Amino acid sequence: MTIKIAPSILSANFANLAESIESVGSVDFLHVDVMDGHFVPNLSMGPHVVKDLGKATDTPLDVHLMIENPELYVEAFAKAGSSVITVHAEASCHLHRTIQAIRDAGCSPGVALCPATPVIMIEQIIDMVDLVLVMTVNPGFGGQAFIYEMVPKIRKVREMVDRLGLDIDIEVDGGINATTAPVVAEAGANVLVAGSYVFRGDTPAENVELLRSVCPAGHSS
Ligand code: DX5
Ligand code: ZN
Repeated sequence: MTIKIAPSILSANFANLAESIESVGSVDFLHVDVMDGHFVPNLSMGPHVVKDLGKATDTPLDVHLMIENPELYVEAFAKAGSSVITVHAEASCHLHRTIQAIRDAGCSPGVALCPATPVIMIEQIIDMVDLVLVMTVNPGFGGQAFIYEMVPKIRKVREMVDRLGLDIDIEVDGGINATTAPVVAEAGANVLVAGSYVFRGDTPAENVELLRSVCPAGHSS
């Protein structure tokens, strides 16, 4: 399975986003972290930024909504040009309806799980999504340490996806670097979000290639 890399612009230079996103070179997605100060203890950006990013790049925008009541904002983020819209299983009390709304709005739906949330939470809706995001840190901030206890959880999601014969992405987000990337890829993840690792130093494009190069070609299931 090919590994896809999704740099998180949360660690980019917000005063010069266009230059930052160009600096990562060729990538599969740009990961956009949306935070509301309620679901997570931080604030970041909204649909306006997504819209302007879409004008500046052809790379698909992978929008990670860390917000309460995400259903209220699906239309705005879809109209702004999101390719993937991922909502947290913990944040939407009518998750089925929210996922359907994302699909109806013409985007690929994703569902995210915080570290404390078990995989069983998504059993009823996994066949409706194009992506499952396993958080490998508690959401809210870039630059946190990878939680190794999430590796068996990635395996569980991979087993569920394969057992059901689904062709969907398994994304990981938080603390991904050259040490943790091969671990999550081996466990079955195929989309790697990385913020601080990609944007550290002056060579984001090289950092992206380094991440790709340390991953095994396929997963072990
Ligand atoms: C955390 C965000 C991440 C964050 C990852 O809440 O969802 O996307 O930017 O940053 P790193 O790669 O630095 O852990
Ligand atoms: Zn994220």
